[in-house]
Amino acid sequence: MNVLIVGSGGREYSIGLALQKDEKVTKIYFAPGNGATDNIGENIAISDFEALAFFAKEHEVELTIVGPEAPLVDGIVDLFKSHGLTVFGPSKQASQLEGSKIFMKNFLKKYNIPTAAFIETDQFEKASSFIDTMQVPIVVKADGLCGGKGVIIAQSREEAKDAARDMLSGESFGDAGLSIIVEEYLDGYELSVFAICDGDSYKLLPAAQDHKRLLDGDSGPNTGGMGAYAPTPLIDERLYQDIENLVVKPTLAGMQEEGMPFEGVLFIGLMIVNGEVKVLEYNVRFGDPECEILMPLIESSVCDLFYKGATGDLDSLEIKMSDRHAVAVVMSSKNYPYKSSVPAEIIVDDIVLERLQRDAHISYAGVNKEDGVLYATGGRVLLCIGLGDTIQEARDTAYLMAGQVHFAGKHYRTDIAYQALK
Ligand code: AMP
Ligand code: GLY
Repeated sequence: MNVLIVGSGGREYSIGLALQKDEKVTKIYFAPGNGATDNIGENIAISDFEALAFFAKEHEVELTIVGPEAPLVDGIVDLFKSHGLTVFGPSKQASQLEGSKIFMKNFLKKYNIPTAAFIETDQFEKASSFIDTMQVPIVVKADGLCGGKGVIIAQSREEAKDAARDMLSGESFGDAGLSIIVEEYLDGYELSVFAICDGDSYKLLPAAQDHKRLLDGDSGPNTGGMGAYAPTPLIDERLYQDIENLVVKPTLAGMQEEGMPFEGVLFIGLMIVNGEVKVLEYNVRFGDPECEILMPLIESSVCDLFYKGATGDLDSLEIKMSDRHAVAVVMSSKNYPYKSSVPAEIIVDDIVLERLQRDAHISYAGVNKEDGVLYATGGRVLLCIGLGDTIQEARDTAYLMAGQVHFAGKHYRTDIAYQALK
């Protein structure tokens, strides 16, 4: 079948790579894709949803997969469905789980799903008096989408009040900050868990761990994610059961009750606090870089997984995961995450090591192609992914690959997966 992938990052590249290996897939389109996705399929420069749906019909696209949150929150799935197209992703209504933190927190509360204690407000006075009752650190979050930057972890009450004031005045995040959440700080370790959902049934993928900070040792500013690995040993059978019983099942049942059954990727950002599961947030799409390590670990047909997710048929699917491990090391541009960088040519050495040929690959993200030459265009540029029988082996392979990739200003963390290898 012909498949359309909406998005332009490493996440979408990795979905493309997985589909390319799938014998069911004939042709892959990316909208808009990046400077390297045209090695996997064809890039389509259409951003208008209506025009894209028209394209999908014209080109007999049988499955559309939406990578990023923005088009989901803007209702691309509803529009595609109204044209009779098969599309994998949540409706605009269901996407509020990510699009509005207030919707999400109230949903968690209503369905008794464990999360940090909080208040929501659009009044500074209310925020301020709640902050006065709290212990530090204090977490202040803008309601709307802020590209991963709308969360402030304040180390004093003053700082928390300043953050609340700046958000509520519209100064820091515009309309996205006009309502806020103030919540208790959770002290634990974070996990990313992904459930592929069809509104009713789900398939849980192995838990992954992201590395959100720019620098080694989890220091420096927050980023979209500088590396990830899966499966993580920081989770056991009991925790998986808690995640299913206390989070995934009540979430799907709750969304049904709300009249917005959840179809698509439910990304549960968890904090494990003293062995207990707490939901930090939901996202309504794959994590990036988590997607890049999960895709190569799925041994059964990835096309089937998405197609059955999109057509309410997951129950009939047996998903087979590899028993290996995957580690992704993100390479970013010099000025990430602050500002853009001057484009720099990317050079990848000839891969002669058999180990790398077999167990490593690159997922491209912030790249552009000019006259056949690939340039790093800023942000997160690419990911080096290594597979192995152990996390250590996968990590060594990923870093071996990273040594083969060159561009001016390249930056990467050297400690991805450290929590698993302590
Ligand atoms: P969010 O966008 O809600 O996932 O928040 C971004 C990051 O902020 C999370 O990945 C956590 O590292 C951190 N964070 C958010 N909420 C809390 C909390 N209540 N306690 C501790 N850390 C938090
Ligand atoms: N890796 C975290 C995210 O995609 O939001």
